Amino acid sequence: MDAKAIRRIGILTGGGDCPGINAVIRAVSKTAMYDHGWECFGIEDGFLGLIENRIHPLHSADVSNILTRGGTILGTSNKANPARFAVGTNKLGEPIFEDVREKAAAHYHEHGLDALVVIGGDGTMSCAAGMIPLGVRCVGVPKTIDNDLMHTHITFGFTTAVETGTEAIDRVHTTAASHHRIMVVELMGRNAGWLTLFVGMASGADAILIPEIPYDIGRLCEFCKARKAEGKRSTIVAVAEGARPIGGDQFVQQTIADSPDPVRLGGIAPVLARQLEMCSHMEARSVILGHVLRGGSPSGMDRILATRFGHKAADLLAAGRFNELVVVQHGALTSVPITDVAEKQRLVPVEDDLVRAARAVGTSFGD
Ligand code: F6P
Repeated sequence: MDAKAIRRIGILTGGGDCPGINAVIRAVSKTAMYDHGWECFGIEDGFLGLIENRIHPLHSADVSNILTRGGTILGTSNKANPARFAVGTNKLGEPIFEDVREKAAAHYHEHGLDALVVIGGDGTMSCAAGMIPLGVRCVGVPKTIDNDLMHTHITFGFTTAVETGTEAIDRVHTTAASHHRIMVVELMGRNAGWLTLFVGMASGADAILIPEIPYDIGRLCEFCKARKAEGKRSTIVAVAEGARPIGGDQFVQQTIADSPDPVRLGGIAPVLARQLEMCSHMEARSVILGHVLRGGSPSGMDRILATRFGHKAADLLAAGRFNELVVVQHGALTSVPITDVAEKQRLVPVEDDLVRAARAVGTSFGD
């Protein structure tokens, strides 16, 4: 279809919120309105709003003064995949799923939308990929504090989460040293260790435990004891929610049956603190940073990245380039097919330069 045919676009935000979403909404909308004269519509609560026909016009005033605001002005959902949407439960209380993509596509057409800008992570991109065969044209923008989307070196929201996590561990350092304690700090990130690795390095954590490098509790304990023997007053352990011991399982906090990605990880920190306390005979405490990492105003770098992403998304639409995801590769903005990132996760290579640099300054990975 001729790119000039675009007159009206829809914008939706799916999956977990993170800092910088509103900055993307602002950049897409303003580029669309000011550069191209397109109309913009906001879809509430991600794909749920498309399924339930909750779609409203977005005016210039709606997207002003939101650059610095955390969360998403459109709302989000991480349960609404149109291809597999929970419509109720059976007698056993198990969810019943239905393919409601035609209904969602009908709402897209009813509002005269010519394309969707889909802001989300791998789950949201999977939803978008499922809508493409029904004639819904999408452009994706990569969002997540986990930084685990394939084919992009960075997602927006990650840098802010790194700053938040770093500041939190900086504060934990003082208690650890004052009380001669082991402090175990748990960070989000699902199956990827990027956030924990970056925060651990930035905050000078003594041990960094990530899902990609299973740990040995005995070695970790020896590491803590050796530090004490050297006269070090404390040990800080940054642990990813998805970390696991060698030969063991990840810690599942909750299973959400009607979610496309039902497993919620978490809860490793208190268990690890208790184990380390018992084997090292040093006092240990745990802190779970959890959703604190997703909150707050985006960092300066995230505001800029989000603005560049949003602008690029509008440019792709203007160029008639549909069903692509905006990405950063080798420092430059480019794009890849949305189908290339759906259902995939980018993990930390165990021999990554960052891992090697951290090891070189004495950081333990517990292996
Ligand atoms: O993907 C972002 C993220 O915050 C993960 O790091 C975490 O595992 C998950 O979302 C938590 O999801 P929820 O908000 O449903 O608890």
